[in-house]
Amino acid sequence: MRVVPAPVGPARPDAIPSLVGRCTFPSPGHDLVCAVSGGSDSLALLVLAVAAGCRVTAVHVDHALRPGSGAEAAVVGAVAARLGADFSSRQVVVEPGPNLEARARAARRSVLPVDAATGHTMDDQAETILANLLRGAALDGLGAMAPGPRHPLLALRRHETEALCAAMGLTPVRDPSNDDPRYLRNRVRHELLPLCSVLARRDVVPILARQASLLRDDAALLEGLAADAVPDPSDAGALAGAPVALARRAVRRWLTEDDDRAEHHPPGSASVARVLEVATGRWVATEVEGGWRVRRSGGRLALRGPSGKVRPVKTERVASSVPSWGQAEVGEPVVTAEALAARVFELGTAITADYADAPPLLVGVLKGAMIFMSDLARAIDLPVDVDFMAVSSYGSATRTSGVVRIVKDLDADLAGRHVLVVEDIIDSGLTLNYLRRYLQARGPKSLEVCALLVKEGEQRVPLDLRYVGFTIPSAFVVGYGLDVAERYRNLRSVHVYRPAMEGG
Ligand code: IMP
Ligand code: MG
Repeated sequence: MRVVPAPVGPARPDAIPSLVGRCTFPSPGHDLVCAVSGGSDSLALLVLAVAAGCRVTAVHVDHALRPGSGAEAAVVGAVAARLGADFSSRQVVVEPGPNLEARARAARRSVLPVDAATGHTMDDQAETILANLLRGAALDGLGAMAPGPRHPLLALRRHETEALCAAMGLTPVRDPSNDDPRYLRNRVRHELLPLCSVLARRDVVPILARQASLLRDDAALLEGLAADAVPDPSDAGALAGAPVALARRAVRRWLTEDDDRAEHHPPGSASVARVLEVATGRWVATEVEGGWRVRRSGGRLALRGPSGKVRPVKTERVASSVPSWGQAEVGEPVVTAEALAARVFELGTAITADYADAPPLLVGVLKGAMIFMSDLARAIDLPVDVDFMAVSSYGSATRTSGVVRIVKDLDADLAGRHVLVVEDIIDSGLTLNYLRRYLQARGPKSLEVCALLVKEGEQRVPLDLRYVGFTIPSAFVVGYGLDVAERYRNLRSVHVYRPAMEGG
């Protein structure tokens, strides 16, 4: 019994129409860019695409990784000319080193149009399924490649492309890296797939390809259901309420929507699981691949990049819930007590290092900074002095006017001192701006600011903040010293304030 297909005798060129009939090329007359390395699969792609009536451009990508790779471009160019196809050769630079296969693929993709056709056959499909399985792929990865204009040859076998080249008198380029056992793909091709066929007592390639096709149908159905169940993946409640199989898909779709991000950092299953835990309330925020971060606030999830304004902070556990006396008006924590403690410790450590030679005078701004000031002062391992001033800004209950009245002035003389202003929260920045000018006029040797919280995107004046605890979304917050009408300063975490009267 033959379990591994051997090349059949040379196909006759008159077999071409029946081969084309099994391919999934665009209809005749359409433009088609074919990625052609010069191997038998891609040469067959070129022959069949021309035979299918497409207006074909063959593109050879030279990775310049092997000596003589430039000559391969000439082989492809000659075949294209013989078939009447356009030809272009592109050179990419791939440095030797780890992860070569993936980097070469990425470099190739960067010079090929996204809809370029490749010569993957059913044998490649089977190898992809097994390789994805070994990498830990789930349903979507096991569905492998979908037939269509990008993968027109998936119904053909490799021996058929080899036979076609032989019949056409084409000598395919032999890429020695296809035998290099350092690549997983090659070991799957030369070792695993043949063993599977031996164990199954039949050629498993069509079986695997058939399974992939069924799985793609299942995946497409689930994808549609996920889109219906969670039309907006930033809606934490919808994610938390959806069946987990759909919620996972919604998260994955959300994290890959930004192509730039997804291309370099596809989300792993552990990240997707953590994002779901943020949605269900177990965490406030979590890191995902590439330094991106998902944070929950007011029932919504926000995704921010490493260059975004939200500074990276450690993943926080929601250990502190809202006490019963606050439940009418106090929403979920924006920064938990645990995160506050960890960050204040970090700030204290930084200040200790920066001021080691000249301990600062800490100037706390009452009343909001009272708790932050007391924790921060104890996190600084230097003989600091402490003073307070109290200011009151004219304005509505939740909006400052920028016109500030000094309610309590400093006791200390600032002349020649290193002054570090300790502020609770910066919203418009007007209060701080006023304070800075006021204090600067008293001749300190240096004047810096340590703000626990900065509201994202609200500042109307440029800020120069030496130390910042957290950048938070722009909502009114209470707790850890912050009040609304003097209430809620003694909450251990910083919470969103939800006025009870809102909407009647
Ligand atoms: P700014 O002048 O707009 O930057 O406002 C800063 C001051 O307004 C802070 O020192 C706080 O006293 C107060 N403030 C601003 N936002 C909040 C908030 O969300 N909760 C409590 N107080 C706030
Ligand atoms: Mg204040």
